[in-house]
Formats: sequence, C-alpha cells, structure tokens
Amino acid sequence: MDKRAQKLDQALQLAMLRVQDGAALQRVEVEAGRRKLVLQADPNGGALCGEDGRVLLAGLPGYLKAQVAAEPRALIRIVERGTAVNLELFPADVKMSISTLDAPAEFQHHPVAYGTRQQFIKAQEAMELLQALDIASSDGKIRADKRRKFFQVDRFVELVDEMLAEQQRQRPLVILDCGCGKSYLSFVLNYWLTEKRRIPCRIIGIDGNAEVIRTAREIQRRLNYRNMEFIVGSIRSYRPSGPVDMVLSLHACDTATDEALALALHLGCRYIIAVPCCQAALRERIDYRPWQAVARHSIFRNRLADVITDGLRVAALEARGYKVSVVEYVSPLDTPKNIMLRAVHRGGGTRKDYQELQKLVQGVLPLEEYLQAFANR
Ligand SMILES: C[S@@+](CC[C@H](N)C(=O)[O-])C[C@H]1O[C@@H](n2cnc3c(N)ncnc32)[C@H](O)[C@@H]1O
Repeated sequence: MDKRAQKLDQALQLAMLRVQDGAALQRVEVEAGRRKLVLQADPNGGALCGEDGRVLLAGLPGYLKAQVAAEPRALIRIVERGTAVNLELFPADVKMSISTLDAPAEFQHHPVAYGTRQQFIKAQEAMELLQALDIASSDGKIRADKRRKFFQVDRFVELVDEMLAEQQRQRPLVILDCGCGKSYLSFVLNYWLTEKRRIPCRIIGIDGNAEVIRTAREIQRRLNYRNMEFIVGSIRSYRPSGPVDMVLSLHACDTATDEALALALHLGCRYIIAVPCCQAALRERIDYRPWQAVARHSIFRNRLADVITDGLRVAALEARGYKVSVVEYVSPLDTPKNIMLRAVHRGGGTRKDYQELQKLVQGVLPLEEYLQAFANR
C-alpha cells in the first residue's frame, strides 16, 4: 500500500470513530476529478444513500477509497450537524481537518443577547436543534416566548458540563431526565454532549403525560437522535435496564422531585441535579413553632416551607455521601423556581443532623417513603 493510501486509511478510521453512532451525521460529499457525489444519511441510521444506491456505514471507508483511488487530488467531506471532517487528498499525502460549519446565511446576525451572560450554546450553530424544538423560528430568531426557557436550559447544560469535566468514562454516560416534559433540556444536553463534546451518552426521558412524550418522540425523529429514549410512566414505576450515572429533574412538580431524588439514590447514581418546583407537600406538616411570629404571615410561611423542604432534600443526600451545592442557577426574574441542587457522590456521610432535622416535620418525608417503596419492590 502506498503512503497516500495508508494515510487515507488512518484518516478514515479516525473519521469513522466520530460518526460510528451516526446520530449527527448528515451527508458525505466527494469531489474526485470531475465527479461530485453526495451521499445523504439515511434517517433510520446505519447507512447513506446516493446516486449509486445505499452504502452501509460499515462499508463507507471502502466505498470512499474506491471513489478517490484513481484521482491525484480529491476532497472528502463528512458533514455532521455543526461540523465537517475534511480529508484533502494530494498525490502523495492526505490532510485531515475539522471545521465548524457556519449557520446558513439567513440565520446569521441574530446573536442571542440575554443580560450580560454569554450564551453557552451558540444559537447559530445549534439552529437546526432549536428550530426542531420550536425555540427558534424558521427565520432563525429565538422566539420571544421561549427565550427564558432557552436561557434556563442553556445554563443547566453549562452546569452539567462543569460537573462532567472531572471524570473519564469507560462506557457511554447514562442520563435519566425525570419529568422531562417536551424535553428541551434533554435535547439540548444531548446536542452538547454528543455533537460538541463528543461524549458518548444515552439519555432517557420519563414523564407521566403521554402527550408530551409523543411530542418528544416526534422531535427525536426529526433530529435523528437515536441515543435517546422517551418513556410514558411515573418516576416511581421506572425500572432501568442498566446502570444510570446521572438523574436530572427540572421543575418536576412537587413530590416528583422527591421521586426523582429517591430513584437516583436507589440506583446509586453518581450525579444528581434537581431544580425543584412547587414544594407544597410539607407545608402543613412543618413545625413552625419557633418561628410562629414570622410564620403567621402566609408568604413567609410558604417561603420557609420551600427552604425547609429543599434543605431536607440536601440533608438527605449529604447523609448518603453526596457532596451537594445549592445555587441560584438563573436569575429569579427568569424563573422564581431557580434553586438548583447539584450532588456528586463522594462516599461517607453522617445521618445524625438529618435525623434531627426530620423531627421538624410530622410523619415520614416523601423522599424517604419513595426510597422505602423502591427498596421493597
Ligand atoms: C413543569 S413540567 C417540567 C417539564 C420539563 N422538565 C421542563 O422543565 O420543561 C413537569 C413535568 O413533570 C411531569 N411529572 C409530574 N409528576 C410526575 C411523576 N410522578 N412521574 C413522571 N412525570 C411526572 C409532568 O407530566 C410534567 O410534564
């Protein structure tokens, strides 16, 4: 085999490592002499279709080598969403480069400004995704009524990314989004991890509402994200088929946050990220006596209940060896439900403080009830 053929072999092997899962692959272009070929990715995955018919992904390197073998100069472009792998062939050499693709001209010049914070996800690069989610309109603008949601999801993904920076993984990361709704968060996270970070992952969304899951599956089909799965069902009834590394919940209503936390604890997940919502379950069960003079005002009582509920959740996680940070992940102007609990399992943990805290509440905490139910099933 001559030097160029060897280099082409190596370059194609590297390129195939990137596209082997195929979810972000869009097309392959070949310019060889006067011939120009375009192979479009089959939406069902595993193959590409061109004028010569179907080429299986596994057979792509052989097919491309045959197309360019007789040409002194040629260009192969493997186009994914947002990036292209370019293989430039010279008479005795092959040069490989990766380029970031610009958004189509009509989508440019609409930077997403939001306060002073820099957007983590570059809207122009992610335009296809944002349009599939209906966050952006067909003319490439972020819809006014979706800006806040996009901003929250963007920040959430940025914080997940920070957490994942610490670890090398031997197998694809498994993420479970509890109470996923239409799954904006999961889709944007999947885009970021698979297309930008190149972190192999599987994302599962679960929601009790069949209609939102139907919508999520439709968006998934449009985006061809085959590493995602959406399930109709309650968080409590979910049984994973394998290990889960991270549980997410964004505004899972009331005790759905406790269900998500209990499931994460039951499954021994390393990472848990929850942004709780409407913490009403303990409101009437908390002993406000030391604070009666304050708690007689219903606004104060409700806020106390919210803080105590989330504080107890943090204590439950810490007692089980999680290091927990509590942050206001976006401004309260974006959403008043802006407290994020971020937990990483580090081992250890003492239950004494937690036991003391539980005495402030009548009965068993929902999180503990769910954990017990998981243990008994
Ligand atoms: C406020 S929405 C949030 C959706 C999404 N996470 C987001 O932030 O856009 C809450 C979602 O949780 C779902 N949900 C509430 N309780 C649930 C439970 N016990 N099991 C599964 N899904 C639940 C609801 O159907 C709803 O879609």
